[in-house]
Amino acid sequence: MDYSAMINEVASYLEQRLVTKPEIALILGSGLGGLADTLEDPIRIPYSSIPCFPKPTAPGHSGALVFGRRNGRYVAAMQGRIHYYEGLSPREITLPVRVLAAIGVKTLILTNACGGVDLSFSPGDLMLISDHINFCGANPLIGENLEHFGPRFPDVSDLYTASLRKAVKEKAREEGISLKEGVYLMYSGPNYETPAEIRAFRILGANAVGMSTVPEALVAGHCGMRVLGISCVTNMAAGVLPQKLSHQEVLETADRVRETFTRVVDLALTVA
Ligand code: HPA
Repeated sequence: MDYSAMINEVASYLEQRLVTKPEIALILGSGLGGLADTLEDPIRIPYSSIPCFPKPTAPGHSGALVFGRRNGRYVAAMQGRIHYYEGLSPREITLPVRVLAAIGVKTLILTNACGGVDLSFSPGDLMLISDHINFCGANPLIGENLEHFGPRFPDVSDLYTASLRKAVKEKAREEGISLKEGVYLMYSGPNYETPAEIRAFRILGANAVGMSTVPEALVAGHCGMRVLGISCVTNMAAGVLPQKLSHQEVLETADRVRETFTRVVDLALTVA
């Protein structure tokens, strides 16, 4: 089936099951998926039952699209994302973002776990993404342009919507929550980076490194959505500390900051 037809098929599958259409969507990263379980009046649709939908394999990504109310907003939450390193093409992993655009989502809140490249960061810090460096060697916009979503050569100079970021920062400051802000570099994974790569990425201007988010942000931007990216610094990147990196540490730190992280998402829902 052709890509546009797949998007339409999934969109109509979802529309048949929804009474209210969401205007905001959340993509929940490693260890952060629990937020989808807190939506009020949830409609939970496992990815496995959605036609043409990619299926995640990463630990901590259970794979369900949950619709429901949170903080007075009707949202669609992707519990579990699909990563490029899982072996699907960038277009396949971003099909859900196209579908969300097709059903009327105007704002996408992307969350992830990342490694701190900036030496002033500490595990547990939360960072609003101000910009990215696409270092994963792939781009989901390659291939036939989907004209009805956006132009062939989209401008991405305000991909991570500055006004949204500013509003969230102000709200967080009022509550005494400190947020870092910085550049997220996407590495393909699945191995963590080498210490030499991390030193290079620091010179390039990266504050944080991770294996997701950039493909979804590019597609959301192409669809004309506003994008907010919130990264949880779950560990210092390779070579910064004299210790090994592990997915266990990523999950443990995400768990430790869950409450603050959830609060920041809620603040984002009030301003989005
Ligand atoms: N590198 C890449 N991805 C990550 C990291 C990291 O150090 N931590 C969490 N996701």
